[in-house]
Amino acid sequence: MGIRIIGTGRYTPERLLTNADLEKMVDTSDEWIVSRTGIKERHIARPDETTSDMAAKAAEAALEIAGINADTLDLIIVSTVTPDMPFPNTATIVQKKIGAAPCVCFDIEAACSGLLYGLNTAYGMMASPLKYKRALVIGAEKLSSIVDWTDRSTCVLFGDAAAAVILENDGDPETPDFYADGVVSANGNYGDILQMPAGGSAMPASHESVDNHLHFIKMGGPKTFQLAVHSMVEACRTLIERATIPLEKIRWVIPHQANWRIISAVAARLDMPERVYQNVERYGNTSSASIGICLDELNRSGQLEKGDYVLTVSFGAGLTWSALLIRW
Ligand code: COA
Repeated sequence: MGIRIIGTGRYTPERLLTNADLEKMVDTSDEWIVSRTGIKERHIARPDETTSDMAAKAAEAALEIAGINADTLDLIIVSTVTPDMPFPNTATIVQKKIGAAPCVCFDIEAACSGLLYGLNTAYGMMASPLKYKRALVIGAEKLSSIVDWTDRSTCVLFGDAAAAVILENDGDPETPDFYADGVVSANGNYGDILQMPAGGSAMPASHESVDNHLHFIKMGGPKTFQLAVHSMVEACRTLIERATIPLEKIRWVIPHQANWRIISAVAARLDMPERVYQNVERYGNTSSASIGICLDELNRSGQLEKGDYVLTVSFGAGLTWSALLIRW
C-alpha cells in the first residue's frame, strides 16, 4: 500500500534527576535503584512545561527529519496518561502549537502501550477507505506530575519525555508498508495493580483525595513485573511464529523501557539478547514515549537501514499490551 515511517523525533526536558538526588528525597540508594531497575537518571519537566509542550517539540523534530510541513498532516494522535487537562484533548493543543491545519486530532490512553496502540490505529485509518495520507503519532508524558515524591517504591522509576513518529502513504503499491504484523490486546481484570485512583468521575478531586495522595501512581510492583514479562514474551512469540521473514532480518528488538530486569527477562526468553535495544538507565520509564525514543535514537545514529525489521513490544496499565513488527 505504501505506508512508511518518514520521520521520528524526541524531546527530553533539560533537568536531570539522578539517583543521588533521590537519595536526598526518600530513603533509597543508588545501589538499590540500579540493581532493581537499571535506572541511573531521568529527565524532569519544568513546572510550567506541559505534556503538549514536550509533544510539540518531539513533533517538530520529526517533521524536520521528514522534510514536511505541519500543515500537510491529516491525522494527529497523542498517547498520554498525563494530558494537559481532561479536555480539550492534547492532540488539538499540539496541533495549534505546531501550526497544523484542521485535521483529525484525538488522544489515546493505553498507558505505556500507547505509542504502539497509536501506530496500529493510525495504520488502520490510513489503510482504510478514508485514505489519510500523513499521520503524526506521539507518545508524551509528564509523569513527574502524577508521581508521589514521598513514595520510594514508585518515585525512582519514572521520567518525563515525548517521542513522535510520522507516517506517510506514498500511494505506490510497490512500496511495502512499515506495518509488517501486530498484536494489540488488554485485560481489564488487572486494572487495579497499576492505576491513579482519583481525578476521574469515579473519584473527583476533593480535599480528602488530595490528602490521601490518590492523584498519584499506585502500583503493585512484583505483580506488574510478572505480568509485564509474560504479556510481552507472549506477544512477541505470536509475531515470531506468524512471521514470514527469516528471524535474522529482525535487526532490533525494542521493548518498553520500564526496567532493566524486565527487559533482560524478556530478552532471555526470546533468545535474542544481543539485538535488544535499551536506554532505560538514561530516562527511566517514560511510559508511551519510551519506544519512540529508542526508535529515534536508532534512526538518528544510522543504526536502521531500509529493509530492516524492528520488533517493538510494550505493556502498561490496564493491563494493555502490544507488539508491532516494523519494516523500516
Ligand atoms: N529504595 C529502597 N528500598 C525500596 C525502594 C527504594 N526505592 N522501593 C521499595 N523498597 C523496599 C520495599 O519497601 C521492600 O522493603 P521490605 O521488604 O522491607 O518491605 C523491599 O524494597 C523489596 O520490595 P519489592 O517490591 O519486593 O522489590 P522488588 O525486587 O520487587 O523491586 C520493583 C521493586 C518496583 C523495582 C519491581 O517490582 C518492578 O520492577 N516492578 C515492575 C514495575 C514497572 O515496571 N512498572 C511500570 C509498568 S509500565
